[in-house]
Amino acid sequence: MKLGVCYYPEHWPRDWWADDARRMADMGLSWVRIAEFAWSRIEPESGRFEWEWLDEAVETLAAAGLQIVMCTPTATPPKWLVDAHPDILALDRHGSPRKFGSRRHYCFSSETYRQESARITEAIAGRYGRHPAVGAWQTDNEYGCHDTTHSYSPDAARRFRAWLAQRYQSPEALNRAWGNVFWSMEVRDFDEVDLPNLTVTEPNPSHRLDYWRFASDELVSFNKLQTDIIRRLSPGRDITHNFMPYETTFDHFAVARDLDFASWDNYPLGTLEEAWPAADDKLRYLRQGHPDLVSFSHDLYRCVGRGRLWVMEQQPGPVNWARYNPAPLPGMVRAWSWQAFAHGAETVSYFRWRQAPFAQEQMHAGLNRPDRSEDQGGREARQVAAELKAVGDLAPCGRADVALVMSYEADWQFAIQPHARGFAWIRLAFEAYSAVRRLGLGVAFVPPGADLSGYRLVVCPSLPILEPETLEALERSGAIVLLGPRTGSRTRDGAIPANLPPGPLQDRLPMRVLRVESLRPGAGPTVRLGDEVLTGRLWREIIETSAEAPATFAEGGPALLGHGPWRYLATWPEPPLFEAVMKRLADEAGLTITPQDPDVRTHRRDGVTFAFNFGPEPRPTPAPAGASFLLGGPELPAAGVAAWRSMA
Ligand code: GAL
Repeated sequence: MKLGVCYYPEHWPRDWWADDARRMADMGLSWVRIAEFAWSRIEPESGRFEWEWLDEAVETLAAAGLQIVMCTPTATPPKWLVDAHPDILALDRHGSPRKFGSRRHYCFSSETYRQESARITEAIAGRYGRHPAVGAWQTDNEYGCHDTTHSYSPDAARRFRAWLAQRYQSPEALNRAWGNVFWSMEVRDFDEVDLPNLTVTEPNPSHRLDYWRFASDELVSFNKLQTDIIRRLSPGRDITHNFMPYETTFDHFAVARDLDFASWDNYPLGTLEEAWPAADDKLRYLRQGHPDLVSFSHDLYRCVGRGRLWVMEQQPGPVNWARYNPAPLPGMVRAWSWQAFAHGAETVSYFRWRQAPFAQEQMHAGLNRPDRSEDQGGREARQVAAELKAVGDLAPCGRADVALVMSYEADWQFAIQPHARGFAWIRLAFEAYSAVRRLGLGVAFVPPGADLSGYRLVVCPSLPILEPETLEALERSGAIVLLGPRTGSRTRDGAIPANLPPGPLQDRLPMRVLRVESLRPGAGPTVRLGDEVLTGRLWREIIETSAEAPATFAEGGPALLGHGPWRYLATWPEPPLFEAVMKRLADEAGLTITPQDPDVRTHRRDGVTFAFNFGPEPRPTPAPAGASFLLGGPELPAAGVAAWRSMA
């Protein structure tokens, strides 16, 4: 387990570099990520490369014993390139260009940009691919950031038509699949299909779903262009990409098929401020981050990376980009680092070495202040480095207790047809995850259709499109399977199944959804589960069934029903209902639960249990009496971390 940092030699005087490198090594850092935004310095004009500065930076870091994560700089195409080829710019949904002057202004479908991206990747991988200090690669930077997965450019339209022709073979088949007869939307040729923007009212949801699928495929093939080149020119080095939390516009599992490990960028306080938690949670966890928001991404990306996880950017102090940007509680940068290791990270790399005094992120802290003095984040990184030495290396995380089926396509389906304001798949998935974590269980994220054997409880927050292989994998698992609302409610083409929802699930679970309704916030529905009266949110399904219904709506009809291993939820549960349902199912599945203090979470790795306190007050550490602690002790202060070897 190692530490690293993101460094921008091009931002600093050359005569600072050697001292920076020496201080990084002295702090206990091993990895340095460089060059992801440096294109204008690497190639100031078309075809004129200036390698000398980057050569010196690489040698300086290497001389201090540091390992380098080299990046392709394709998130920031320089001005000369944009001017020579304006067709590389993405167009937003209003058809306006996303102009030069920040970053990520390119279109994944631009033929020119694909060539340019291959050309610069070839150049940089050719130059540094075999350098002994270059140990890993990062492609681009944060795909999808700033709403950049979708572009409505002429190149995107052209490639979308080719993608559709491949998928449907004939315009008649496409018309049938999308139901284009509805508003005389029929086309006679694939060339007549346009992108789903600038329409008078909403475009056909099937049209949009295919466009989102296409856009995800475009991003995957753009990334693969780079990984193919790097593999050829930099043999034996790992390749990664730094994903974002709660970014769902493309299929991360598909991108990661071409990577060696997944990494992600962890900004707990900015994420809390921008995400869903209620206002009182935003205040309670203001300086610590929410107990489950961060670990959701650790667990997701560990699985996206097939067991291999890094944090490529770790928040070191206040950030600049959220609505409000508080400073972390002292100790929290250390706690977040240990939380990442507890959930399986191999390396935690801080963003950034030093706060920049200029440009967009001048209000974003680093490990050091702009005057080179060490900031709070730097002191905590130093502490983690010392503790890592004492704790020693840990093997990867073992199998989790519960599998959560993570479907990007389900998220797109909800986004395209929410039917209730705020009905977002990813939030439903987060709340399912959080309910499981509050019971002290560990979670693995599995893509639809993948093997689920070995799990005793599988949670599908919702799978509107139930492909046969997904249903078979669920059935073969032998697990108790929870299916959330709207499961089986659409065919692959986005239509209502001929036998009504839940479509193919009807063969296993005797039920038919006769009607659905969405409800404004506060309007329930009320749910009775045993003696408890709890509530759902925004959604109610009216179901005809001969299956058992352990929970019912106050208005009548099943809210939770079950038959054999299958369980189906007819509403979006508020957190107490979700927790009660998960507890019941964990019991049925024979899992041992250890309900958690609301502010404390535990996670196990390689026989070591870690505990973290996200609350503002001290808490007892949930360790057995007589535990011998590797970190911390029987009391967990605010921002506290404890770790002990489990007896079993
Ligand atoms: C990330 C990004 C970095 C930097 C950072 C600031 O999203 O990858 O380049 O902008 O946020 O928090």
